[in-house]
Amino acid sequence: MISTSATLEQQTFAGGAASVRDLLRARRPRHGLPGAFYTDPDIYALDIAAIFEREWIFVGALCEIPKPGNFLTVTIGNSPIIVLRDRKGEVRAFFNTCRHRGFKLCDAAKGHTPALICPYHRWTYRLDGTLAHAKHMPEDFNPEEFPLVSVHVRTVGGTIYVCLADDPPDFAPYQEALTQQLAPHALEHAKVAFEADLVEYGNWKMVMENSRECYHCATGHDELMLTFLDIYDFANPDQATNIRSYWDKWETAGFGPSVSEGPTHRAVRLPLTGDARSMTMDGKIAVGRPLGQAPADAYGSLRWVHYPSTFNHCLNDYTVLIRMLPLGPEETLVTTKWLVDADAVEGRDYDLSNLLKVWTITNDQDKALVERNQAGVRSSGYRPGPYSPSLEAGVLKFVDWYCEKLDHHLDGLSRSPNRDGRSS
Ligand code: FES
Ligand SMILES: [Fe+2]
Repeated sequence: MISTSATLEQQTFAGGAASVRDLLRARRPRHGLPGAFYTDPDIYALDIAAIFEREWIFVGALCEIPKPGNFLTVTIGNSPIIVLRDRKGEVRAFFNTCRHRGFKLCDAAKGHTPALICPYHRWTYRLDGTLAHAKHMPEDFNPEEFPLVSVHVRTVGGTIYVCLADDPPDFAPYQEALTQQLAPHALEHAKVAFEADLVEYGNWKMVMENSRECYHCATGHDELMLTFLDIYDFANPDQATNIRSYWDKWETAGFGPSVSEGPTHRAVRLPLTGDARSMTMDGKIAVGRPLGQAPADAYGSLRWVHYPSTFNHCLNDYTVLIRMLPLGPEETLVTTKWLVDADAVEGRDYDLSNLLKVWTITNDQDKALVERNQAGVRSSGYRPGPYSPSLEAGVLKFVDWYCEKLDHHLDGLSRSPNRDGRSS
């Protein structure tokens, strides 16, 4: 229960959907979340049900599954998911759970297979999810009744999203905006040059919040800031004029809108610092073959975020896709994929360590920041503080979005009191 004698900042959480709601509604406008939202296992379970089992979740790039039989797997909350190309080349997604006794079908992160064969008792599924064989079952057993449970899947500009809900939110506005903005980057013609997993010991919201502001950049990211233009330079009239001149050029050249924004996303194309052409230690391009069409006479980057699971940067020569998936109340898996042109050859067109350096260092720095922030928020002495209206507007947008989603979910629960923490 929430203590009635405590001040708003001192409210504590003792479990239960009703008190989560009270805690949400007692949040001060434009302030951070109470500590329980970053640590409590019950709130974590609500996050999985209200957010990760409801929203469109970024899983990877189309170029990772270029041919029929290619698959990739992810775990969203408690649900292992497999995303694949079927025999017709269609992208499909299924719960990676056998219809016999629920064995996790596929353990590999990626691969190629002509069929999905459960290792436990060899039930065998076609790539369209239908059950092809199940030995030693009775005569009246009908395989048609036991296809894999499908998951909604959408693609945009070479990236893949899944939604575990029966009735997913509308993906079309985001898809329309990003189709135009990603087109110059030709991610369909890319390959993954490298992929790295990083476990950050912080709540998933802490990871997302950290990614939504550059308030910390000057002190935390020397290497990133060699080439990364701090958006808040926009407050400087000269810089704003400079950026607008880039936007005019890029839009005239057909690179789509420079800015798009919706409830779950923001995507903006911005120049790099000075004469930098890519996000590298020396500002020079890392990959000899461009990935897509270079923005006309300038080498900007398209930065984009989509709640709750991804933030990305498209450059002239490479794209970095960053996916974050919760592993527990205080643990988040951050996966980074560096995409280059499919025909680029390591050693000839790019030096891998040079390609990876800035984002590897930056991700490590962010991991340290998130973990130290988590350590402070875990304290009984933590009190949610106010966000900077200018430098943390992105954090506020995300946190407000999260609160609204959770509140809506809790509304649904209160209408079906027999459900415990999960929507129908
Ligand atoms: S659980 Fe998959 S075949 Fe038995
Ligand atoms: Fe950072």
